[in-house]
Amino acid sequence: MAHVKLHIPGPVEVSEKTFKAFCSPMIGHRGQGFKDLYAKLQPQLQQLLVTKQLVYLSTSSAWGIMEGAIRNLVGKKVLNCMCGAFSDKWFDVSKRCGKDAEALQVPWGSPIRAEAVDQKLATGQFDALTLIHNETSTGVMSPLAEIAALKKRYPDVMFIVDSVSSMSAVPLKFDELGIDVLLAGTQKAFALPPGFAVFVCSPAALAKAATAKDRGYYFDLVEFQKNAEQNMTPSTPSIAHTYALSSKLDEFLAEGLDNRYARHRKTNQMTHDWAARHGFTLFPEPGYESLTLTCVNNGAKPGGRTVDVPKLQKLVKDQGFLIDGGYGKIKGTTFRISNMGDETEATMSELFAALDSAVKQL
Ligand SMILES: Cc1ncc(COP(=O)(O)O)c(C=O)c1O
Repeated sequence: MAHVKLHIPGPVEVSEKTFKAFCSPMIGHRGQGFKDLYAKLQPQLQQLLVTKQLVYLSTSSAWGIMEGAIRNLVGKKVLNCMCGAFSDKWFDVSKRCGKDAEALQVPWGSPIRAEAVDQKLATGQFDALTLIHNETSTGVMSPLAEIAALKKRYPDVMFIVDSVSSMSAVPLKFDELGIDVLLAGTQKAFALPPGFAVFVCSPAALAKAATAKDRGYYFDLVEFQKNAEQNMTPSTPSIAHTYALSSKLDEFLAEGLDNRYARHRKTNQMTHDWAARHGFTLFPEPGYESLTLTCVNNGAKPGGRTVDVPKLQKLVKDQGFLIDGGYGKIKGTTFRISNMGDETEATMSELFAALDSAVKQL
């Protein structure tokens, strides 16, 4: 069957080069070969996340770390910032972990604002805060720097940030922002196959985790640190992903991180321009649009053109591209186009040509 190129907001298209690295011959995860591999990519990850901390590799999707962070770091009560399907779900996951949790809910399409977080933290009830930097379901990017600046006034509150669909596409300075856990899955902007996560913890998070009873084993932050100090992972990792990640990090640094960020900005702007050219509006509140995907309004809120989304998807798929038909309660009343990963102005132009042709046939 002919391959349909992925322009959904994850998993995204994986290159031949990455697949080749993924298929490298197996090695033992406690042997020198794996330790050398991890030691080679450690400084590259530290450069990417602008941190002096060790960066960890988890053989799980992002939810593993999202749940693990709750189990390790919530003692008193967690404030879950909610602005879309994934951030809303995190509140549910906190409760499923048996934690006392409170929702800071804003309407879908709106960002989380620092003032709202400040008001809640000022009550002194919380010892942890979760934030999704880039809410993939709504295409909203919340103002992380502003929230991080405010959070510094509450040093005892653990700041857990999901950058699943923003890490490596936008600059994220872990140490400077004062984040306690920053995580991402590899099937988004890293353009690796799904099933692997990259994350980093502050010394404060490690100290707090060490006191947490019932933090389990698989996602025990202390175990990740102990093993990373030896260039290893607590349990047998996906060695295939580790090889692929190493290859990808070489590509990031060869391109230059600033160039990589600029490329995402440019391809994102091109997507916005495509939408505007066809009379569509965007779903996110203006000024808070994601830089890695575009959530096009299709009747979820007033204004702009509406189309038959399944039909649009089919017409585009017939030309070899997969776009997303909207997620959760805004399925069909929005649709989403990803510019994450390896996409360039040239490859995005091919997608827009297919979309132009599809729109004409609606
Ligand atoms: C922002 C965000 N957080 C978390 C997740 C969950 O990731 P996974 O299903 O890979 O665990 C997703 C998946 O799309 C996401 O977009």
